[in-house]
Amino acid sequence: MSADEPDVIMCPDGPMLLRGHHRVADESGDVFETERPFSAVCRCGKSATRPWCDGSHKLLRRTKPA
Ligand code: FES
Repeated sequence: MSADEPDVIMCPDGPMLLRGHHRVADESGDVFETERPFSAVCRCGKSATRPWCDGSHKLLRRTKPA
């Protein structure tokens, strides 16, 4: 990983990608730790595996009017 690369990436209409080790607190204050190369944090609020993205945001995007 280059030092020039961001370690937090906001995906349009999707999750926030975290690169490397992070500790993520959910709305209840529960803390989740990740050591994965990339982790996707849900921003839409519809994931069944929060705080992690499960892809549900893709269904939301399809229902938006054109
Ligand atoms: S951002 Fe992917 S399920 Fe919420």
